[in-house]
Amino acid sequence: MAGFLDEIEPLKQTALAELKAAPDLAALEQTKGAWIGPNGKFTALMKQMGKLSKEEKPAAGKLVNAAKIELEAALAARREELEMAAALPKHPTDFTLPGRRRALGKLHPLTQVTDDIVRAFRKIGFAVADGPEIEDEYHCFDALNTPADHPARDSQDTFYLATDSADSKLKTQNSKLLLRTHTSSVQIRVMEKQAPPIRIIVPGRVYRRDNADATHNPTFHQIEGLYVDKGVTVGDLKGTVEFVFRELMGSDVKIRFRPHYFSYTEPSYEIDFTNALVKKMGKDWLEIAGCGMVHPQVFENVGYDAAVWTGWAFGFGIERIAMLRYGINDIRLFYENDVRFLKQF
Ligand code: DAH
Repeated sequence: MAGFLDEIEPLKQTALAELKAAPDLAALEQTKGAWIGPNGKFTALMKQMGKLSKEEKPAAGKLVNAAKIELEAALAARREELEMAAALPKHPTDFTLPGRRRALGKLHPLTQVTDDIVRAFRKIGFAVADGPEIEDEYHCFDALNTPADHPARDSQDTFYLATDSADSKLKTQNSKLLLRTHTSSVQIRVMEKQAPPIRIIVPGRVYRRDNADATHNPTFHQIEGLYVDKGVTVGDLKGTVEFVFRELMGSDVKIRFRPHYFSYTEPSYEIDFTNALVKKMGKDWLEIAGCGMVHPQVFENVGYDAAVWTGWAFGFGIERIAMLRYGINDIRLFYENDVRFLKQF
């Protein structure tokens, strides 16, 4: 009996020391097996208890159980220590190292130019309006005094949608669905909903059946303007356009109106633009936009009294302005998403 009891303490001490020294979780499992697993040394000791006499058993049992509890506690403690160590990064962080620079994105040049145009118009009281890119023929053409047989429909040919598969909510007045060729359709949509006076600009994406080349792309962007009130004149139009272009491109900007034809304005003009940059390109003037006084028929189409209301409208191409501003010579660069290009603006 004395021999058995004497064995417990040294065995326990050795087991405790080994458990505490286990260098990792795998080693710890092995040590556990070697001591308290089914074939462990401590388990073998416990098995020997069966050979003890009835009187000896209680004292020995108490001792062995206490030792086993101690071993299990030591095992659990070491396991927790090793698990925590395993969760830490292998190489400690050096907080004195310089930080890694994060590449920041920026606004696309077309967005920057659009934002600047919008900012300039806001200064003089224009609000931003919006309309659908999937439009119907009526709002894109008919309501703008451009009937089906009008030649302007050729120069603004676009992509038509198969109407039978289209969402019926979009179908209006039995008019075919298409991708809008200009933001002018939003003039109609706003006037249908709102009574004059109106002072809006409409930046947005438009579509044409054009082949892509250095100056054309099947999708591009425009900004439309519409001003409706009593007694509005071409002078207001010219002053407004001049103000905005000077805000945008500098105080040396000059604007010229050239007579033109649009079915929704009368009279109509093309706007030419010049500044030092244009001169440097070896040109006198660059055509930059279309505009005019809103045609009385357009007012009639939206239910405005053309004898009471007057107004003007214009449409700029945003790409053209951006190309001029940044000296870009190929429109396709805007859509390629090449960061080497985009980074420069
Ligand atoms: N919608 C024309 C285009 O796409 C531009 C335009 C011309 C807009 C005259 C207007 C306007 O509002 O009055 O080329």
